[in-house]
Amino acid sequence: MRVDIFSAKPHDHAFLQAAARGSGLDLMFHEARLNTGTARLAEGAQAVCAFVNDDLGADVIAMLAEMGVQLIALRSAGFNHVDLRAAQAAGIAVARVPAYSPHAVAEHTVALILSLNRKTHRAFNRVREGNFALDGLLGFDMHGKVAGIVGTGLIGTVLARILAGFGCEVLASDPRPSPECEALGVAYVEMEELLARSDIVTLQCPLTPDTHHLIDDAAIAAMKSGVMLVNTSRGAVVDTRAVIRGLKSGQIGALGLDVYEEEGDLFFEDLSQSYIPDDVFARLLTFPNVLITGHQGFFTREALQAIAATTVENITSFRQNGRPLHRVSLPD
Ligand code: NAI
Repeated sequence: MRVDIFSAKPHDHAFLQAAARGSGLDLMFHEARLNTGTARLAEGAQAVCAFVNDDLGADVIAMLAEMGVQLIALRSAGFNHVDLRAAQAAGIAVARVPAYSPHAVAEHTVALILSLNRKTHRAFNRVREGNFALDGLLGFDMHGKVAGIVGTGLIGTVLARILAGFGCEVLASDPRPSPECEALGVAYVEMEELLARSDIVTLQCPLTPDTHHLIDDAAIAAMKSGVMLVNTSRGAVVDTRAVIRGLKSGQIGALGLDVYEEEGDLFFEDLSQSYIPDDVFARLLTFPNVLITGHQGFFTREALQAIAATTVENITSFRQNGRPLHRVSLPD
């Protein structure tokens, strides 16, 4: 069975080839991102394997269906970029990797929180220049602070455990509270209370029509003055322009992002010899209290091994019985 892998980076070659050894799958790697201009590369494939910034809208799905593609195997947990209705109508099954390492993303979230708090990213540069002054590096004790987690699924629950370990008071908002979080002492509150009481607000919910721009001007105004806001979920959960207004007014005291609403034009590419084509993103980079990473929350050895293994299992089970192991279905 031929599987065409889009947005393939060197680590995808290494981990997928290792996981597919002996499976009989014929892997074809394409560096190109999947879109209407590149979909034809999959001519002859029965499955395509895609990542977070590949275009899986109705037009691409129609092209894939016409070429005989039967399965879209996502190398991600999030599936907000797939037109599920179009896939269903075209008879293409969609599979994802529901859980690979919630630790990877939760720990990266903590890395952003601690770096922003203690300014290690700034201290690194200062010390290298022989500047050992401490002005501007003042942080706060995590112990005793209130951390608000929006979305306590797999990642949010691991994050709650780590933050509780620091001695934070952990608040959470989720339509489906996690018993594990409740056992940890996490208090489920309404979003308004979470925003009003949290020193750190962190977003771990999926991007859905309900969570699109969940953090807008009104939500920012409802937060504590000087709040730390961290988003490692999906970029469009945050209205970036509203966040820039919040940073300018000082309402947001620190911002950590691993995702950005228009990241498809930037992330995973080396633009260091060119320029940043996105003026809103470039504005974000001018604030000293903003720390951005380029969607690397998932990027640990353990997570990549698990993503590759589950992707191969999804494709193999589809080949054997017409159903991928972790099928994404339309919501009822
Ligand atoms: P999950 O499905 O286990 O948990 C999501 C939780 O969010 C659920 O408990 C759900 O009830 C809750 N939720 C849904 N709507 C909500 C709302 N309006 N308000 C509050 N909570 C809400 O998903 P998991 O594995 O924890 O991942 C969460 C998200 O993190 C993914 O959807 C994905 O977008 C993102 N992610 C980011 C990665 C990165 O590299 N930065 C890697 C993996 C996932």
